[in-house]
Amino acid sequence: LTIAYAVESDLDPADFIDVLQRCSLGARRPVGRPEQIARMVQGASLVVTARDTGRLVGVARSLTDFSFACYLSDLAVDEAYQRGGIGRELIRRTRDACGPECTLILRAAPASIDYYPHIGMKRIENGFVFDRQK
Ligand SMILES: CC(C)(COP(=O)(O)OP(=O)(O)OC[C@H]1O[C@@H](n2cnc3c(N)ncnc32)[C@H](O)[C@@H]1OP(=O)(O)O)[C@@H](O)C(=O)NCCC(=O)NCCS
Repeated sequence: LTIAYAVESDLDPADFIDVLQRCSLGARRPVGRPEQIARMVQGASLVVTARDTGRLVGVARSLTDFSFACYLSDLAVDEAYQRGGIGRELIRRTRDACGPECTLILRAAPASIDYYPHIGMKRIENGFVFDRQK
């Protein structure tokens, strides 16, 4: 199985919706509101993809200045492809694209709480959030 990784600047929002729906993140992202999804893709600063013969099977969507901070907002891997190293590679490439001066920060979905420490990330205790209002 050969997975092709790339930084993509014009990901098709329909492909993004599709891969979200092929993992548990689909229930936690606004897949029923395509115009909001389109703004998420449009406004992202870094999108790293994993494709199997053209088909999107993994994505890491981040907001970053490529200098100081990178907020990894959505990491999704098609259920049929999970535990094959794709998530780890998407994060590695995200960090690589941002450079060593950049901190990578994320909010874990319930299904991935044990994943991030497993791949070497440190838990932070100083995170705060205003929940979205709608
Ligand atoms: C969480 C997710 C991104 C992981 O991607 P993945 O490609 O399946 O993971 P990898 O193959 O890179 O896994 C790397 C290691 O973590 C382990 N791992 C994978 N998923 C795990 C999980 N949910 N909990 C704990 N460990 C996990 C793997 O077994 C592997 O271990 P090893 O290196 O000892 O063999 C993916 O399962 C997913 O999309 N889940 C649903 C959506 C989600 O929760 N996304 C995160 C939102 S913030």
